[in-house]
Amino acid sequence: MTRKKVTIISLHEKKRRGEPITMITAYDYPSAQIVDRVGIDCILVGDSLGMVVLGYESTVPVTMEEMLHHCRAVRRGAQYAFLIGDMPFLSYQADRAEAVRHAGRFLKEAGMDAVKLEGGREIAETVRAISDAGIPVIGHIGLTPQSVSKLGGYRVQGRTAEDARRLMEDAEALQAAGAVMLVLEMVPDQVAEQISRRLRIPTIGIGAGPHCDGQVLVLHDLLGMFDRFTPRFAKRYANLFAEMERAIAAYRDDVLQRRFPATEHTFTMDEAAWREWMQQMSSTEGSS
Ligand code: KIV
Repeated sequence: MTRKKVTIISLHEKKRRGEPITMITAYDYPSAQIVDRVGIDCILVGDSLGMVVLGYESTVPVTMEEMLHHCRAVRRGAQYAFLIGDMPFLSYQADRAEAVRHAGRFLKEAGMDAVKLEGGREIAETVRAISDAGIPVIGHIGLTPQSVSKLGGYRVQGRTAEDARRLMEDAEALQAAGAVMLVLEMVPDQVAEQISRRLRIPTIGIGAGPHCDGQVLVLHDLLGMFDRFTPRFAKRYANLFAEMERAIAAYRDDVLQRRFPATEHTFTMDEAAWREWMQQMSSTEGSS
């Protein structure tokens, strides 16, 4: 079967058929190639790159230029996945026209298929403006890491009936404003289930239980490539930090013990050229 590019239409069809949607973050060319080869539906170039790739304390310092740089690399690596660029803090909150222009750069300059914004009803009109400009928008509610200071830390959202009601209203406001998908981060599974049932658009959970229409994980959490902390909701499928450490230490030891480079890594002149050069060397010896 020939593989087709994933689109918003095919993602919505998956929800209608009750088929899980797969999403993962990627930030560079090789990881995008691998994720795409595996057949993951959506690649999110998340602003989590600020923490897991650039080493910032949080996602707050990430800039538009950093996001676009990584989105372009992912675009070059992925052919089929639906590509989502994460709008960084203050690229859409301050001014609606500026938000539309910034969102447009993700499509125009970085080849993304959609953008993602954090927030509920307070950004609904911004979502509408971006969507009206022809740019697909993914919402993101629950724990919104760009507002981590306001939320008082990385904690589960929507635990009380009142907070759950507000989340449902936010989800509906975003859908009404034109959002095409919605990320639910760190919310109780019952809340995620009700929102997923109520909405027409697919929900993608991260720490939101099994009832969402799809799941997303941060690549570096999944691969064991971020050692500052692992969120409880993240499942680790590999320990690449340990594997990379082992490989790099083996290289260091090979160099120190003169085991590397070996013959197969070494280029040699052919015999005749070598002799000719040696003759030239000996005839000029002592003349300088
Ligand atoms: O930035 C990111 O990677 C995200 C996911 C955690 C959903 O927003």
